[in-house]
Amino acid sequence: MGSLMFSLSLSRLVLWASGFILVLVFLKLAHLLLRRQKLARAMDSFPGPPTHWLFGHALEIQQTGSLDKVVSWAHQFPYAHPLWFGQFIGFLNIYEPDYAKAVYSRGDPKASDVYDFFLQWIGRGLLVLEGPKWFQHRKLLTPGFHYDVLKPYVAVFAESTCAMLDKWEKKACEDKSFDIFCDVGHMALDTLMKCTFGKGNSGLGHRDNTYYRAVSDLTLLMQQRLESFQYHNDFIYWLTPHGRRFLRACQVAHDHTDQVIRERKAALQNEKEREKIQKKRHLDFLDILLGALDENGSKLSDADLRAEVDTFMFEGHDTTTSGISWFLYCMALYPEHQNRCREEICEILGDRDTIQWDDLGKMTYLTMCIKESFRLYPPVPQVYRQLSKPVTFVDGRSLPEGSLISLHIYALHRNGTVWPDPEVFDPLRFSPENVAGRHPFAFMPFSAGPR
Ligand code: HEM
Repeated sequence: MGSLMFSLSLSRLVLWASGFILVLVFLKLAHLLLRRQKLARAMDSFPGPPTHWLFGHALEIQQTGSLDKVVSWAHQFPYAHPLWFGQFIGFLNIYEPDYAKAVYSRGDPKASDVYDFFLQWIGRGLLVLEGPKWFQHRKLLTPGFHYDVLKPYVAVFAESTCAMLDKWEKKACEDKSFDIFCDVGHMALDTLMKCTFGKGNSGLGHRDNTYYRAVSDLTLLMQQRLESFQYHNDFIYWLTPHGRRFLRACQVAHDHTDQVIRERKAALQNEKEREKIQKKRHLDFLDILLGALDENGSKLSDADLRAEVDTFMFEGHDTTTSGISWFLYCMALYPEHQNRCREEICEILGDRDTIQWDDLGKMTYLTMCIKESFRLYPPVPQVYRQLSKPVTFVDGRSLPEGSLISLHIYALHRNGTVWPDPEVFDPLRFSPENVAGRHPFAFMPFSAGPR
């Protein structure tokens, strides 16, 4: 009798729980559908490529490569078009300077639909933070990027670069082509570890290499997640093989940053080391973070500290690695520009064999080539915002508060109305006279506005 009562109440409990879950699923679905309707209605006046009923534009983007696909759509739909990753995340994708100015000069918040995918990995650091806390962290860290802090780093850059060139000298003897991307990545991470995180001169260790590989994995998985609507929900994603791979790579990245923080904290326990830091005229990034107090006079929490270290560790080497690699690719494709850069550097160096801070301002042709390579291959090709108030664009079309915006930097930089023959590598686009007549929001490799 007792066991019958027990199984009856258990089955009733299961029934209740299933009903409850069903209601939750229904409410979530209704919320998503209403949101979709709102986003879609807001973009009514913007024609765009046809959407798949389930995948939106994700399938086409995955099949053909998102960057060039969007450039071809930009030819068909001037200024902007709707871009759907699945059925529930829909952006107005913009690639025209006046459109970019209308949004990026105002400081709207980042679109959490995209940036929240970063949370598990880099936490709430500068890239993801919003509001007063973003402002507090930003103010706190600005002195770490003062010119006087940066100047001595030039010697570190030169040293790490020489190590990379020595490696290439040996590889070149084999008379076989080789992929430079990974070596550039190690060089960028090595300089970052030495400058920003105060690592000694020992070069990258095994742990740094593992971190480097984990970050490569994480960036690819992030892009894949954004483009696959079935991965947008955290709970579902963590259950998939890709989600689990993401979590494993996060663990590797966190172990690395924890170790960096632990080592510096341990060094600070040492009296002599503390005195050395107190005597420094300018503190480095990690000194600032560890010494920082919030508005209540308490230290940054461990989570805040790790988020900033993770953010800078990622942002500081991933962008520079692709920027430098694409620049070298352009130099290889266009030897005439490479020779002009070489001549310029040789003239600046004279009989010295290494670059100094004051030389940087004299490298005018090289700077134009770097900018032209950033135009064609921006290291961050797309950034996202959510409107905090309505916006009206130059052609009179508008979007309401809450709409999602994707600024497609790659397509903006290939917009034929601003850049004649956009596919041609022409550094003279960045000569002072050519820059003077150009829209200030036509070239945005570093985004624009307060972020
Ligand atoms: C070629 C080099 C670089 C490029 C092209 C680049 C590009 C960008 C872009 C486009 C953003 C805006 C992201 C967004 O709105 O979602 C950004 C933000 C950021 N970058 Fe970089 N970056 C570069 C180098 C670096 C380096 C070396 C560091 C650190 C040492 C860094 C740290 C950051 C941080 C912390 C943010 C977030 C800023 C905020 O939202 O307040 N970046 N970067």
